[in-house]
Amino acid sequence: MFNANKIRKDFPILKRRINGKALIYFDNASTTQKPDIIVKKLRSQYGRFHANVHRGVYKIAEEATEKFEEARKKIADFIGAASPREIIFTRNATEAINLIAYSFASRLKKGDRILISLSEHHSNFVPWLRLAKEKGIGLDVVNLNPRRNFDYNDFNKKISKRTKLVAVAHISNVSGYIYPVEKVTKEAHRVGAMVLVDGAQSAGHMPVNVKKIGCDFFALSGHKMLAPSGIGALYGKQEILESLDPFLSGGEMIREVSVNDVSWNELPWKFEAGTPNIEGAILLGEAIDYLKKIGMKNIYRHKESLLQYALMHMRALNFIDLLGMEGFQARTAIISFNVKGIHPHDAASLLDQHGIALRAGHHCAQPFMKHLGVPATLRASFYIYNTKKEIDIFINALKEIHKKFAFR
Ligand SMILES: Cc1ncc(COP(=O)(O)O)c(C=O)c1O
Repeated sequence: MFNANKIRKDFPILKRRINGKALIYFDNASTTQKPDIIVKKLRSQYGRFHANVHRGVYKIAEEATEKFEEARKKIADFIGAASPREIIFTRNATEAINLIAYSFASRLKKGDRILISLSEHHSNFVPWLRLAKEKGIGLDVVNLNPRRNFDYNDFNKKISKRTKLVAVAHISNVSGYIYPVEKVTKEAHRVGAMVLVDGAQSAGHMPVNVKKIGCDFFALSGHKMLAPSGIGALYGKQEILESLDPFLSGGEMIREVSVNDVSWNELPWKFEAGTPNIEGAILLGEAIDYLKKIGMKNIYRHKESLLQYALMHMRALNFIDLLGMEGFQARTAIISFNVKGIHPHDAASLLDQHGIALRAGHHCAQPFMKHLGVPATLRASFYIYNTKKEIDIFINALKEIHKKFAFR
């Protein structure tokens, strides 16, 4: 049985008091908190097992390598990849997307096009914008519909035989809407385009299966799913990764080097130049074990019930502007909104006085903000350790700050 109050006990940071109030952490779309087990495992990793991977023939180097490669298997299994060879360790989702942008560049020629959506996080926008400018190729941008959701009709209009790659978020980090990535992939493959799904907001937040989606690439960040910062992963179909050029060059990614020549290592190491984030990878594997014990379906259901509860209360407040994103359907626990009459940054500071941590800003999605007609929004995002009781406190805090501070 899912029990958020029991889960909370695993997260020491939730015992903190901020401005005399219990910390309410609602900035999970930005990064999640870490359970104690991750901190303990980090200590034991450094205290007992630390050595470089893939190099030593001595005991602790072999142990480190075994744990590192075991973590790769756990990720492959967690997202339904066919083989651990399809998992490349990166620093984060941003690096995973850049890896593809750089490696894909040599395949593109004049007349080719890339298709993204208007709501993409800058991490899945800027690499393609830059690539398009540098290679002189076209960038098509799918609009949002009046409910600020992915406009599938516009996608259908913009995709063509010239589209070589479609890069789209699984879940928007502004609206929380789950995008139709399976349908998008089918259509993209029909015209011969490859598909990259930015899974920064979905991995660790809902059940994910890359085979079911059918996508060619999938990017994720460990820090958004209980693991430390500085570790992420790229999934890529084996035959495609094999055909791509490496991203970074250096140690580990080579098979043989001579004065005049170099040949590449096999997958996945061909894309992992230099000493990797060994402990980050191992702890990402541990975070996956922790999430699997709770159950991804349970996590998704809990988040959904928090979302519905919060939206129901927020819709009843006439001073809350949900910016057109009021729907319940196919959505996870991310709510962007503004408090009428209060600048989002001021509102976030006032909420901090109540111990409530949430994000104010453009959420690295400036084209989306322009579409909404605002420079910034507030964003509340929930995870496994959040509760309805916290949402009640949040709703009361909103009422209080509006009463005291809204400009009338
Ligand atoms: C949808 C989406 N994509 C990509 C990223 C980038 O993640 P990272 O900064 O971990 O690379 C984020 C981060 O918020 C995100 O929400």
